[in-house]
Amino acid sequence: MSHVVVLLAGGRGTRMKSSLPKVLHPVLGRPMLSYGVEAALASGAEEVVVVVGHGADETQAAFRDAGVRFVLQAEQRGTAHALGVVRQALEGFEGSVLVAHGDMPLISSGMLRRLARTHISRPRGMVLTTVELDCPSGYGRVMREDGEILRVVEEKDADLEEKRVQEVNAGVYAFDGGVFDMLSGVNGENVSGELYLTDLVALYKNSGLGVRAILWPVASDLLGVNTKGQLAEVEAIMLDRLRIRWMDAGVRMIQPQTVYLEPGVRLAADVTLWPGVVLRGESRVGPGAVIGPYAVLVDSNIGPEVEVKSHSVLEQARVGRGSEVGPFARLRPGTELSEGVRVGNFVEVKNTRLADGVKAGHLAYLGDAEVGEGANIGAGTITANYDGRTKHRTRIGAGAFIGSNAVLVAPVEIGEEALVGAGSTITQDVPKQALAVARGRQRNLEGYVRRRGKKDS
Ligand code: UD1
Ligand code: MG
Repeated sequence: MSHVVVLLAGGRGTRMKSSLPKVLHPVLGRPMLSYGVEAALASGAEEVVVVVGHGADETQAAFRDAGVRFVLQAEQRGTAHALGVVRQALEGFEGSVLVAHGDMPLISSGMLRRLARTHISRPRGMVLTTVELDCPSGYGRVMREDGEILRVVEEKDADLEEKRVQEVNAGVYAFDGGVFDMLSGVNGENVSGELYLTDLVALYKNSGLGVRAILWPVASDLLGVNTKGQLAEVEAIMLDRLRIRWMDAGVRMIQPQTVYLEPGVRLAADVTLWPGVVLRGESRVGPGAVIGPYAVLVDSNIGPEVEVKSHSVLEQARVGRGSEVGPFARLRPGTELSEGVRVGNFVEVKNTRLADGVKAGHLAYLGDAEVGEGANIGAGTITANYDGRTKHRTRIGAGAFIGSNAVLVAPVEIGEEALVGAGSTITQDVPKQALAVARGRQRNLEGYVRRRGKKDS
């Protein structure tokens, strides 16, 4: 038997107090809804339908290529109304209709599969997922009598005694296609006037079709996000799980609770992460590499045995085996360091390839450049790559030595093993093994100070 998953993602989410639609708020760098979409697709669903409403355009744009189908809920009249709008889209579908809220990013495909399996055993009835919370405030409470589920009471409608119930509705359900007829019994007679999906519990119970519950043992898996505080809480749980996963895979984290990493990051065994490290996007770190305190890596690829020292910032950069970067280095998109390269403090590199063994130890800007094997880039070297209109390239041959504070005005080429004198402004190509000096010649005026002294008196 097959199932579809309907994700409800059109609510106004007013308690987030944000202009960004709730389901697009990032959790570890990805929109909240993407986790639900991923779980739904991985559960083997025949189709994943996303109900969009508030912020529909933005949500559809963010999930354009996600392999889901969108249905618009033009007016947001509550969760039952949200499910109602998919009726036509699922016309003729005969399997299980799983429904999940788009604001629960810790949901898993395993949970959805279990729900589908439970439903198939008695397909006409409704399956509800519940969890027990120490602080159930804000959630719909599950009312039972002699263990049997009678109804769900929303927080706003609950009296004091009902509020004490700790078993809550998680917001994940299974039905068959008959649910769309059942929805007509939801009347919005409650404190907020909204059409509550949770009213279906009493409707199924009273119709005799029956309601069953899966009491999910790990309550944190099904936390919902209605506020920024809950967003931070869910994100912290996800982050904790990621850190444990990588430590189990052999990564050493010094003060793991200070390390931030995103789900797309891949780490090899024996990587060491110092406190405050931030690893974002699709960053990769190879075996034995050490990432120093407060380094930030975005979509970067770090080879084996590399050392990235503290406070370095790398974005879309590749660093080859055994290289050393930082402290305080900045590697911008298009930076490629081959093997054994050394980029030191306050060096900025962009769209530039440094071949094996290149050294750029201090205070330099290398942009749109190609630097050959073993070249030495002196402190304060600048590739002047931009003439106000276009970017030009600088080529520095293997073994070249660029003296301190040189400006290489691109386009320009420094030949292999050439020397550039310190303080030179180079505007013409330098031949192989030549010495280029381009600065005012030094004059010493003998006795100048003494003569000036006499005049002053
Ligand atoms: C809902 C449940 C509550 C449950 C809790 C679990 C109802 C009435 N209440 O409350 O029992 O304990 O989730 O987290 O269902 N949405 C739409 N269209 C709408 C309204 C909402 O698509 O018109 C979507 C929202 O984007 C959200 C989801 O439905 O993803 C749930 O809505 P939300 O406002 O978060 O409901 P809760 O108050 O959390
Ligand atoms: Mg919610």
